Amino acid sequence: MDTVVPGGSVVQLDLSPGEIVRTIETNDCWIVLPIHHAPAYRELYDALLNEIRPHLPASQGAIVVRQAVFFLATGGSTTPAHIDLEHGLLLHLRGGKEVRVGAFPDAATAQQKIERMHFGEHRNLAEEPRDAQRFELRPGDGVHMPAFTPHVVHTTGGQVSLSLTIGLKTEATMRESAVHRAKRPSAAGRQAPLAGRQPSI
Ligand SMILES: [Fe+2]
Repeated sequence: MDTVVPGGSVVQLDLSPGEIVRTIETNDCWIVLPIHHAPAYRELYDALLNEIRPHLPASQGAIVVRQAVFFLATGGSTTPAHIDLEHGLLLHLRGGKEVRVGAFPDAATAQQKIERMHFGEHRNLAEEPRDAQRFELRPGDGVHMPAFTPHVVHTTGGQVSLSLTIGLKTEATMRESAVHRAKRPSAAGRQAPLAGRQPSI
C-alpha cells in the first residue's frame, strides 16, 4: 500500500468489520476498533488514563476528550501519511510496527492542511513526513504522536499486528483547533496569518 494518498481515499474492502477481523491474516487491511464506549474495557481504559494524566505537561491543561481504539492490521499493511487532531499514545501489543513521526515541509503547508481538516477535509497528506524520527515497535513498546503532527505507520514482520491507542484532546489542542476554525482559508487561496504567530482577531 502507498505511504501517501494525496486524494485521501483509501481503498475499502466490501466486508463487515467482523469479517475484516476474522480474515485479517490475509486481507491486507487495517481496521480501527473503538473501545471507549465498551463496558468490557472500562477498567483497563480508566487505569491507563489515570497513569497518563500526571505525566501531561501543565501547558496541556485538562483532558477534554478521551478515546481508545484497538488498531488491527495485516502484516505488511501501511497506514498512509496523515495527521490527527488529538494526541496519540500508541501502546504496541502484538507483531512488529514501524512508526515514522515527522514534520510538514513548511509552516504554510501545515497551516493550510490543518485548517482544511478542521473544515471537513480528510486527514491524509500529500507528502511523507519530513525529517521523520523512526520507531521500531515490539510488543510492550509505546510511542507518542503529538496532535497535528505528520506520521506513517507500517506493520512489519509479516505478522498480524495489534496496538492500543489512547487519543486525548486537551485544553491546549482544543484551543489550537478553535484558532484554526476561526481562520477559514479564502476561496482565492490567500493564506490567513499563521496560527499562534499573530493575533487571530
Ligand atoms: Fe494517526
